[in-house]
This record gives sequence, structure tokens and C-alpha cells, in this order.
Amino acid sequence: VSVVITGATGHLGRIVVESLLARGLPAGEIVAAGRKTDRIADLAERGVQVRHLDFDRPETLGPVFAGASKLLLVSASDVGQRIPEHRNAIDAARAAGVPLVVYTSAPKATTTDMKLAQEHKATEEMLQASDLPTVILRNSWYFEVYTGQFPTYLENGVILGAAGDGRISAAARADYAEAAAAVLTTEGHQGKVYELGGDTGFTLTELAAELTAQTGTKVEYRDLPVAEFEQMLAGFGLAAPMPEIFADVDRAIGEGGLYVTTGDLGRLIGRPTTTLAQAVRAAVGGV
Ligand SMILES: NC(=O)c1ccc[n+]([C@@H]2O[C@H](COP(=O)([O-])OP(=O)(O)OC[C@H]3O[C@@H](n4cnc5c(N)ncnc54)[C@H](OP(=O)(O)O)[C@@H]3O)[C@@H](O)[C@H]2O)c1
Repeated sequence: VSVVITGATGHLGRIVVESLLARGLPAGEIVAAGRKTDRIADLAERGVQVRHLDFDRPETLGPVFAGASKLLLVSASDVGQRIPEHRNAIDAARAAGVPLVVYTSAPKATTTDMKLAQEHKATEEMLQASDLPTVILRNSWYFEVYTGQFPTYLENGVILGAAGDGRISAAARADYAEAAAAVLTTEGHQGKVYELGGDTGFTLTELAAELTAQTGTKVEYRDLPVAEFEQMLAGFGLAAPMPEIFADVDRAIGEGGLYVTTGDLGRLIGRPTTTLAQAVRAAVGGV
């Protein structure tokens, strides 16, 4: 019996492994998988089974999935490559007879027009067609998407975007990771589609105000037309297709695309989700 976590070499997957350990799952029953396994050597030292796996090399998947009682398929990170990668993972999970596959998707994946979600939509459809028992975790944005840019926001005194007054139901990666760990260690989730997001959404104007209040440095939100924001992202050297994809995320935010009101995340983790104020405080602690 083992719980396999893909993307365990990345940010979210690692926290899921930590959450499973914190919930008392024996380290020997956890398989932490990814390509750059040197990043999680510390987990191996703690008794977690660390295994190499590459979605682009199908032959690496079967041996890792064999004997798994549950698989957390953390969506891969190369936008544009993820449909074949996830297809390989789903095929291997099916061949291994994995009894439950949990997948990290995007808000309203099957109905949203947000470009970034289209690979998630395709993956959910492949999972459904596979007949594998599944749980879908439709994660909204991470706070870390924004907190990682705080140095830039503070330096320039401005947050640039094209999200208008759209509310963003961000939560901490740790919140989503705990939700995944809860689903992997408790019963009754099979077949569920959870729309996960922070309890209270915020606008980028509110983010700027919170950052200003907590640092004393004036930061304001400047809303740009979507096309202009896309050009600006390209001007910053972001490689195609990411300027188009990220500008489209802001367009979708402006239309409510990342606003989640289900309360699923708080219910799964059994506590309020990380607030905007807490996330900003955690990030500017050292500023
Ligand atoms: N909700 C959000 O705000 C948000 C934001 C960004 C991303 N995401 C999605 O959520 C996922 C997890 O987020 P994160 O912050 O943990 O991202 P991350 O730190 O970039 O981690 C991505 C993980 O995917 C693994 N991976 C990528 N391509 C792979 C391949 N071909 N074969 C095997 N493993 C592969 C990486 O493995 P190696 O590093 O070992 O290569 C890494 O462990 C992302 O991959 C992305 O799909 C969501």
C-alpha cells in the first residue's frame, strides 16, 4: 500500500508529502516522485520512498505507479506539453490498476474559457474517459503567484495587471496541499469535484492596499487593457505563449474566472483558509 505523489520535487507536491507525514501516514507508505529527485533527498532521509519519474518517458511511470493505492497527479508545469504528459500518466495509472487518482486541476475547468485551463479540461476529460476512480481538486490561484512578485511591486510602487475589479480566491499553497492530504487520507471523496479557493476573494486593488498598509511603501494597482498587458509581459522577456496565457488569466479574473465561493477548501482542511493579510504578512516578514 502506498500513496504516490507526482510533482513532489516541486513546491506543492513537497508540502503535500509534509502534510501526509504530519497526518501520521508512515513515511514508508509515501512515494515522492519527480524528475529532479536530488531536491527531495531530505525526504528520503526521513524514510519517504523517493522515485524518479518523467511524464515524457512513459517507461518511467509504470514502475512508480505499481502497487499504489492512491495517486496524486500534480499537474505538470510545461504549458503546452501537458496533454500528452498527463495522457501518459493516466495510461500508466490505468495499466497499473491504481484504485484512486487525485488530480490538481483549475477552477471551473470544464466550462471556463480561460486559456490556461484548457489542458486541465482535457485532462479531466481523459480521466473521465479512462474510467479510473478520481477526485478532482480544482485549485484556484496560489497567493505565492503574487507574493513572489512583491519585491518588484515594492520597487516600482505599482502592480500592473488587466484583472479589473475581478475577485481572486487565492489561498496558500499549503492550504491546497493540506486539502490534497485530507483527500488522500480520509474516505468518501471518490467521484467528487472540489472547487477550491480562499474563503474571501480579493481584488488586485485590495492586494495593493494591503501591501501598502503592511510595508508603509505606497503601492497601487494599475489596470491595463488586456492587449497592452500582454505586450508588457512580452516586453519583460516572458517567452511565448506565456504573455498571452497570463494576460488571458487576468481577463478571466476580471470575469470572475478565479473567484470560488463553494467553501470546499475550508471544509476539507477544517479551518479558515489563509487570509490576504496573513499571506502578505508571511511574505513581507523580512522586507
Ligand atoms: N494554482 C496556481 O496558482 C498554480 C500556479 C502555478 C502552477 N500551478 C500548477 O500546479 C502545479 C504544482 O504547482 P507548483 O507550484 O508545485 O509547481 P512547481 O514547483 O513548478 O512544480 C511542478 C512539478 O511538476 C513536475 N513536473 C513537471 N514536468 C514534469 C515531467 N515531464 N515529468 C515529471 N514531473 C514533471 C516538476 O518536477 P521536476 O521539478 O522534478 O522536474 C515539479 O515537481 C504546477 O505544475 C502547475 O500545473 C498552479
